[in-house]
Amino acid sequence: MYTTKTLQDEIRKLKKEKDVCILAHAYQSQDIWEVADYTGDSYGLSLEAAKVSQKTVLMCGVRFMAETVKILSPQKKVLLSAPGAGCPMAEQMDVEAVHSLKETYPDYTVVAYINTTAELKTVCDICVTSSSAVKIIRGLADKNILFIPDCSLGAWVSQQVPEKNIVLVQGGCPVHQQITVVDVMSARERHPQAKLLVHPECLPEVSAMADYVGSTTGIMEYVKKSDGMEFIIGTENSIVQHLAFDYPGQRFYPLSAACICNDMRRTTLMDVYHCLQGNGGEEIMLADEVMEKARGCIVRMMEA
Ligand code: 13P
Ligand code: SF4
Repeated sequence: MYTTKTLQDEIRKLKKEKDVCILAHAYQSQDIWEVADYTGDSYGLSLEAAKVSQKTVLMCGVRFMAETVKILSPQKKVLLSAPGAGCPMAEQMDVEAVHSLKETYPDYTVVAYINTTAELKTVCDICVTSSSAVKIIRGLADKNILFIPDCSLGAWVSQQVPEKNIVLVQGGCPVHQQITVVDVMSARERHPQAKLLVHPECLPEVSAMADYVGSTTGIMEYVKKSDGMEFIIGTENSIVQHLAFDYPGQRFYPLSAACICNDMRRTTLMDVYHCLQGNGGEEIMLADEVMEKARGCIVRMMEA
């Protein structure tokens, strides 16, 4: 029988033997973070994906993140540790919908949140993540932007970049959108001294009440630099746990107990072990044509 510690030791041994790099999104659990070579937000994972030296990359996160690695490093073997882990928002729009939007909005620059499928990226001009969206959109030559599919992130970006004409279509994150203004009022009442830090996937009326709006890494960096003692966290509740581990002298409270992404939580340490053993996970396979067309969209984001 394994303990967490013996399983982690076995994973460290296997990844070295098999020349595997483990990338873990910020929402992965603490036991997975401890065996990962890199942890961070979607933007950080993309940068890392492009420069990994190992032959195989194991992604602990959701499918679009593993697809991004494959697109940026097509010669590598890319594994998704939990094949069932998808981001529901990534499936909210299809290629036909974008084609018909382009007819309605000809000459608009199509900006896709990175939480989209590889196929959808083939018909978009540039990707953004929550940490890069404001800077990238501000720097685009075009004034007219079609932003898909997260209307909450899009609305927050529109406020930061009022000089652009941004049309928002058509969805959002079902996990973050559950958080309400009532949740904010109740958390503020219970913790009046705490700073409120939220992810821009939250509804615009929730983001409007926050002390800071930023990506998963942005939220963690804010805490690192802050001299505050208490924080209310408005994103997936795994971040509350990570912050509590990193800063035991400070207190962290979830904005909503419901902010749990079952897809992000699908991956277990045992999945990582099975994947490294070669009897679990899924190898990401994408058609060359899809990778070529989608690559431009991601590379433009990284070069912006
Ligand atoms: P980050 O880019 O902030 O890590 O967000 C990814 C995500 O899926 C948030 O729900
Ligand atoms: Fe997708 Fe939302 Fe889960 Fe992030 S939290 S992976 S956007 S469903």
